[in-house]
Amino acid sequence: MTMRTVYVNGQWLPEDQASVSIFDRGFLMADGIYEVTTVLDGKLVDFPGHAARLARSLSELDMTPPATTEELLALHRQIVTANALVNGRVYLQVTRGNPGDRDFVFPDPATTPLTLVMFTQVAGTPEDSADARRGLRVISVPDIRWQRRDIKTVQLLYPSMGKMMARAAGADDAWLVEDGLVTEGTSNNAWIVKGGRIITRGLSNEILHGITRASLMRYAAEAQIEVEERAFTLAEALAADEAFVTSASAFVMPVVEIDGTPIGSGKPGRIAQRLREIYVDESRKAAL
Ligand code: PDD
Repeated sequence: MTMRTVYVNGQWLPEDQASVSIFDRGFLMADGIYEVTTVLDGKLVDFPGHAARLARSLSELDMTPPATTEELLALHRQIVTANALVNGRVYLQVTRGNPGDRDFVFPDPATTPLTLVMFTQVAGTPEDSADARRGLRVISVPDIRWQRRDIKTVQLLYPSMGKMMARAAGADDAWLVEDGLVTEGTSNNAWIVKGGRIITRGLSNEILHGITRASLMRYAAEAQIEVEERAFTLAEALAADEAFVTSASAFVMPVVEIDGTPIGSGKPGRIAQRLREIYVDESRKAAL
C-alpha cells in the first residue's frame, strides 16, 4: 500500500500524519455527514448529485457548507491527481468540529469551524468485479435505524452490524425490512425486477436518496426500461425475476439470493447485468 495524500481542514498530508481532535463531534457524537464519489478513469462520477446531497445533508443539520460546490469539485480533482487515482473513490466527511470539550449542545459555528476530511480509496475496474459475475447473497434483518435515513450521517453502527450478521450467516450483505417492506440495503438501494419492470422504493425520510439510484432511473428510462417507484415486500422480492442493489461503490450489483432462497435463476439477471453495463458506460461518458 502506498502512502496516500489526504486532506484535513485545508492541509494536504501523508495519511499517517493526518489527525483530528478527540473532542471532534464526529468522533464523540457521530455529528457528521459524508459522501462517497466514484472515480472512473481518473474522473468523478455523478459529482453534481453528490454535491447537491451533501448540501442538503448539511442544511438539514444546520451546518454551513465548508466550501462552495466549485471549491469542492476542485478539491476532489486535486485529491484524485495527488494520489494518481485511476479507479476508486473519494471519501469526504464534514463534522461539526472540535468545540474543545464534550457537550451535547451544538457549538457556535463562529468559534468552532467544521472539520473537513477527504481521502481516496483504490478499487478495481467495474468490468473486473468478481462480485458482479457471481452476484450477492443477502439476508433480511429488521431496520432499526433512526427516522432520518435521508441524511447521510456517519452514524453507521447498525449498517456495520447488518453486514456482520450477513457474514455470520454466510452471506454478503443485508437488506433492511420495516413493517414487512424492504427499505434499502445496509449501504445501497434495493431493487427488484418483475415482468421486465424495475422496482425500487420511493424517496422519503426512510431511505437514503441514492445518487446512483437517481442516475440509473434516468438511464433506464432512456433505454425504455419501465421504472416503478414503490415499496415492495420481502415476499415480493423472494418471488421476483431478479434483484440488485445500487451504490457509488457497487454501481449496479446483482443479488442472486435472499435469506437462502435463489432469486429467479439464482444467477445474475439479464436486466441487472444490462443496467450495470449501461450505468458504467453512461457514467464514464458523463464523468467530470
Ligand atoms: N453508501 N443507502 C445507504 C444506506 C447507503 O449508505 C448508500 C451509499 C446508498 C446508495 O447511495 P449512492 O448511490 O449515492 O452511493 C443507499 C456508500 C457508498 C457508503 O457508505 O460507502
